[in-house]
Amino acid sequence: MTAAVRAFYEAYPYPPGNRPDCDAYHGRLLLSYIERPEGIPMQLQLLEAGCGRGINLTEAAALQPDDQFTGIDINRVAIDEASANIRTKALANLNFQLADLLDPASLPGVSRGYDVILSYGVIHHLSDPLKGLQQLTQQLAPHGVLSLMVDGRYGRQPLDRFLQALEMISASGDRDGQRAVTARALARIAERGVFHGNCWQGTSSVDEVEFADRCLHVHEQSYDIEGLWQLLDKAGLKFIRWHEPDDWSLKAICDDEALIEQLQAVDPSVAYQLIERLTYRPKLTLVAARKEDQPRLPLSREAFLSKRFYLSPQLKRVTDESGDTEWMLRGRKLSIAAQGLPHQLLTAASQIDSGFTASQLLQPLTGESISPQHGLNLLMQLYDLECLYASHETERAV
Ligand SMILES: C[S@@+](CC[C@H](N)C(=O)[O-])C[C@H]1O[C@@H](n2cnc3c(N)ncnc32)[C@H](O)[C@@H]1O
Repeated sequence: MTAAVRAFYEAYPYPPGNRPDCDAYHGRLLLSYIERPEGIPMQLQLLEAGCGRGINLTEAAALQPDDQFTGIDINRVAIDEASANIRTKALANLNFQLADLLDPASLPGVSRGYDVILSYGVIHHLSDPLKGLQQLTQQLAPHGVLSLMVDGRYGRQPLDRFLQALEMISASGDRDGQRAVTARALARIAERGVFHGNCWQGTSSVDEVEFADRCLHVHEQSYDIEGLWQLLDKAGLKFIRWHEPDDWSLKAICDDEALIEQLQAVDPSVAYQLIERLTYRPKLTLVAARKEDQPRLPLSREAFLSKRFYLSPQLKRVTDESGDTEWMLRGRKLSIAAQGLPHQLLTAASQIDSGFTASQLLQPLTGESISPQHGLNLLMQLYDLECLYASHETERAV
């Protein structure tokens, strides 16, 4: 099976295009999601398992020059391209290697383990997903985190129905390109049917690589939340949080107070299972850690004053055609007013790369426009919205 998957990706190296999207590749932000008794190493070791052409990892390595990045894949075409790109960009903190996630002997490994492992869209293509996940657990440093994306069973249902239709008139072994032609034609019908109005809309016109990945794949499976939780458990891991919590928030999808109250009383994983059935969530993207690790506890007011904060790398300032500024977090417009004090605070924060304490940020603003109390409340609100994050202290070099 690995050979068939390798041949498929060597014909269609993923991801398509050259626009990197490395929102989910920030080591210090990912590590800030779990409690940690001590500081984090000066230099983080990050591994992307199944990095494909490596364009996201290359961008991430350029943006985080103090950390060390390794990308592995079974696809020689993709690894050759990724390695050539590093030479062009002269990045010293990145390397790519040909390796099979299911073959422990081929994995590069680092002595103290990887602080962060990223694996997006890979586990569900393995002949033995549990073995692959167990390998990743073994490569993880104590207190490391795994950022993982797998296909979601319920969100993929429209695509699965389309694939069943394709299978009826075109054998999956078909290699002469006719299957791709037939698939495009069927996808145009599905645009007015099963793809209409959901995340699969537009499939008939995506580029060749993306189309192949969706419609012509040789081996894939998908997960529901219950199955994914069991897989994590067997691999010695547990769910810490969603990469995009708003997608899984009852408040974001429901305006019925009584129902929200009823659902808040059930186990969170049951509420997530309900959401996966009622909405289209084609991807399950989450952060996991070893079973003994705990998600980060909310910061008390006292702790808040002593912490060092950074602006989230997932927060972007965009200016629209009329010149107005919007703040977007992971592609969503912020729910607080983008003008006035929140805007001033975020602008001030965006000018300090080295991090800041609450009082450092508030001092220039207090007195004239803002009381210390109000300023602190606003800052805590921005933290709760995840515009800011509190990194763990870095250990000093020995
Ligand atoms: C959908 S692509 C994802 C690429 C990249 N992670 C991204 O998100 O753009 C899946 C990648 O997993 C790789 N892959 C599949 N099986 C693998 C294995 N056993 N070991 C290493 N990589 C594998 C494929 O070659 C392919 O590049």
